[in-house]
Amino acid sequence: MEFYDVLRKRRSVRSYKSDPIPKKSLDNIAEALALAPSACNLQPWSFRLVLNDGIREKICSCYGGKWLAEAPAIIVALANMDECWKRPEGTPIADIDIGIAMEHIVLAATAEGLATCWICAYEMEKMRAALDILPPWKVLAISPLGFANETPQPRTGKSTDAIFKIVP
Ligand SMILES: Cc1cc2nc3c(=O)[nH]c(=O)nc-3n(C[C@H](O)[C@H](O)[C@H](O)COP(=O)(O)O)c2cc1C
Repeated sequence: MEFYDVLRKRRSVRSYKSDPIPKKSLDNIAEALALAPSACNLQPWSFRLVLNDGIREKICSCYGGKWLAEAPAIIVALANMDECWKRPEGTPIADIDIGIAMEHIVLAATAEGLATCWICAYEMEKMRAALDILPPWKVLAISPLGFANETPQPRTGKSTDAIFKIVP
C-alpha cells in the first residue's frame, strides 16, 4: 500500500473478526517496530503480542470496552522508565519513544490490511498486576490487532491550516 494511502486508511477500529493473523503480517509488523527511532537509539521498550486466551481475558478486565475481547490478539507496549533517555532536567522520554514505536506497529498493521485501536484508558495498576509487570517497566499502551469487522464513520478533525503553520 502506498504510504499516504496507509495514513488515510488507518482508523481506530472497535469491532473485530476472530480470524487469525497471518504469520507473514506479524513478521512485517515486527520489522516495522525494529525500524522505529528512539532517543539515543535506546529502544527502551518491549512489545508483547498476546494470543493466549487467559492473558487476553486478564487484559480485558482492566479496560471498559467489551469489544476488546473480540480481537484475536492484543499488543502490549511496555516501557523501561530507567533505560530510556532523560531530558536534561530529568524527565523520561519513554512516552514519546513508545508512541513512535506503537505507531510504527499501527501503520504497518494497516498496510497489512489489519486493524488496531490505541488504548490508554485502562486501569494502569490493575494492568500492571494482571500482566506481572514490575518497575522500571510500565504498560504505556495496548491495542487490539485483527481484521476489522466495521468501517468507522469518516473522521472529523482540525484543518491543516489550524495545526500546521509555516513560519517563514
Ligand atoms: C494515545 C491514544 C490513546 C487512546 N486511547 C483510547 C482508548 O483508551 N479507547 C479508545 O476507544 N480509543 C482510544 N484512542 C483512539 C482515539 O479515540 C482515536 O485515535 C481518535 O478518536 C481518532 O480516530 P481515528 O484513530 O479513527 O482516526 C486513543 C488514541 C491515542 C492516540
